[in-house]
Amino acid sequence: MFNAISSQASKLINLTRKSQNQSKTKIITVTSGKGGVGKSTFTANISYLLSKRGYKIAIIDADIGLANMQVLFDMKPKLTLFDYIEGRNTITEVISETKFANISLVAGKSGYQYAHIKNSLVLTRIVEDIKALNKYDLVLIDTGAGLNNYVQEFLSVSNNILALTTTDPSALTDVYALMKMLSVEKEKLLLCFNHTQNYKIGETIANSLVNLAKKNRLNTNFMVKYIGNVSTSANISTTSRLRKIFAHEFANDDITKQLQKAIDSILNNIK
Ligand SMILES: Nc1ncnc2c1ncn2[C@@H]1O[C@H](COP(=O)(O)OP(=O)(O)O)[C@@H](O)[C@H]1O
Ligand SMILES: [Mg+2]
Repeated sequence: MFNAISSQASKLINLTRKSQNQSKTKIITVTSGKGGVGKSTFTANISYLLSKRGYKIAIIDADIGLANMQVLFDMKPKLTLFDYIEGRNTITEVISETKFANISLVAGKSGYQYAHIKNSLVLTRIVEDIKALNKYDLVLIDTGAGLNNYVQEFLSVSNNILALTTTDPSALTDVYALMKMLSVEKEKLLLCFNHTQNYKIGETIANSLVNLAKKNRLNTNFMVKYIGNVSTSANISTTSRLRKIFAHEFANDDITKQLQKAIDSILNNIK
């Protein structure tokens, strides 16, 4: 499936290579396999911190099961990704400004039936359309749980893939499945641990995943790059419930420092 989507996507990408080459925009797809690990929270917070560093950010909320980015940013956009997918609106019409300078959002919609649009490569097109605007430095795509067709399409079209996971065995199993799938076609996976008390624990588990990949002879050109850890904090869930961004409210917190460290590593490892 991934292969099929990839080959179709690469045809489309070849067609649009000109616009892509001229675009400064880098794409990062944030994924996990398992749901509820903190992807949306992480994406919103690193977007905020990147915007404070002067990067122009667009977020695409691509979680079809539970689109909550507009809740985290406390906004109610009239148009969503699905107005674009269904051909009613252009890319510029479905991009909304958040209350933060330098962060825009293509909001999602919960419960959308992706089955209607499969094989259309419309998700590839939205990424190409955003690149062609040449307005954003980074586009962060927040995907939902699982590795269904639409998540695979966003993985296929993105040069940079970041997996956020917990150290929970079922979450790690899902990340390993993701590694196996990506190792066929991609060069690298950025790996970040959430709900993980210190950097070292994440590093040790990341190394175990790499060793498992070696043992199972996954493609040796495929690299897993550990980028850091985020501890558990009640303040994260509280700020989310209050529709506020944690890193904005707690700029000097240790967890904000962990997020900054992860961002340094992300910026050093994307293309
Ligand atoms: N590091 C953390 N510490 C405490 N709570 C967190 C942390 N990261 C995420 N959460 C909470 O976990 C829940 C799920 O997070 P969310 O970002 O929606 O996950 P996902 O997008 O992976 O489904 C939310 O209530 C969020 O506030
Ligand atoms: Mg989410």
